[in-house]
Amino acid sequence: MIAFIRSYWLLLLSFTILCIVAIVWKSADQQSKAIAAQQPFTESSWHPPSLYTDRELEGEQRRLVIFGQDLIARTALYLGPKGSIANISNGMNCQNCHLQAGKKTWGNNYGAVASTYPRFRDRSGTIESIYKRVSDCFERSLNGTAPDSNSTEYQAIEAYIKWVGKETPLGVTPKGTGIYKLPYLNRAADPTKGKLAYQQKCQSCHGSDGQGQLANNGILFEYPPLWGEHSYNTGAGLYRISRFAGYIYSNMPWNKTQHSNPALSIEECWDIAAFVNSQPRPERDLSKDWPDISKKPVDHPFGPFHDGFSEREHKYGPFEPILAKREKLKK
Ligand code: HEC
Ligand code: HEC
Repeated sequence: MIAFIRSYWLLLLSFTILCIVAIVWKSADQQSKAIAAQQPFTESSWHPPSLYTDRELEGEQRRLVIFGQDLIARTALYLGPKGSIANISNGMNCQNCHLQAGKKTWGNNYGAVASTYPRFRDRSGTIESIYKRVSDCFERSLNGTAPDSNSTEYQAIEAYIKWVGKETPLGVTPKGTGIYKLPYLNRAADPTKGKLAYQQKCQSCHGSDGQGQLANNGILFEYPPLWGEHSYNTGAGLYRISRFAGYIYSNMPWNKTQHSNPALSIEECWDIAAFVNSQPRPERDLSKDWPDISKKPVDHPFGPFHDGFSEREHKYGPFEPILAKREKLKK
């Protein structure tokens, strides 16, 4: 009899444990599904080539590509304020924004440069070559001047960028290249909320006043600046709030974030971007940009605009009403 009761209790106990496990399992599954629904999975169909396996890349061309890669990764070592070749840029490296030397999926990589340039761009209103596009990043993102198109440095950079994109068919922009486009918020991005998130998730590396941190050699940044005198200027692509928000969604906090498991929520990205963009940075004369003002991106924060919205609305959003108005104007 006692043996029967014992086994009865044992059975009941194991049944209860099984139920608890099932409930916990189910709720964890639901939770991860909810997170997945909130954070769209950023697919990729692009893979960079590898210097180790590329047997076709030989001799002088190989040396040029390898030098180009180093110029992208450690730009300041050669061309920064204490650079060994010339002093024409602000101390940042191309790689600070084009991660893994422009090879990281959704890390603003160069996978679609060789395949889509030369091409017409609304910012200049002209057909731009790769040289023009690289020069733009020197003048805006590196707040400096571009090397001559005939210089070995530029030739190496172009050879490298073309090599990174060599497997992309002409005219194609594969998923995973460039910067991921985040959905818009239905409110303006909020610098006050962004400041709080910045302090919790970015400040440890990028600093309390966004100045970053130089490495021990005093030449390269260990952590690059996000605003202030050593950062990119107001003409840089990253100064557009959508570009910044999309960039950090798949890439920051650094070294822990892959495109497939973003660490920040979409709202956090927009709010942090708003906070960073509310801080000072070097200014650039942009009066010659966008000769056709109706082609300015919705988040280009400098007027004049043809849509009647203010600079502040173009800086922080909400963007849906601006887009709707623009659609109306087209008709
Ligand atoms: C402060 C960040 C930053 C730095 C530093 C930077 N870039 Fe860029 N670069 C960008 C952004 C943002 C874009 C535009 C991406 C977009 O809108 O899809 C861009 C675009 C480009 C493109 C065109 C990509 C395309 O697919 O159309 C090239 C080429 C490029 N950069 C080269 C360089 C080179 C070379 C350097 C270093 C000399 C450099 N960049 C430094 C942020 C940066
Ligand atoms: C663990 C340190 C670390 C943390 C935390 C971190 N970053 Fe970064 N961040 C880096 C490093 C390092 C780079 C440059 C990567 C490279 O050159 O390969 C970088 C690059 C950047 C860049 C492009 C370069 C520039 O200076 O503009 C932006 C924008 C950026 N981080 C924003 C953020 C934001 C926003 C957060 C918080 C959500 C954040 N980072 C958190 C280390 C960090």
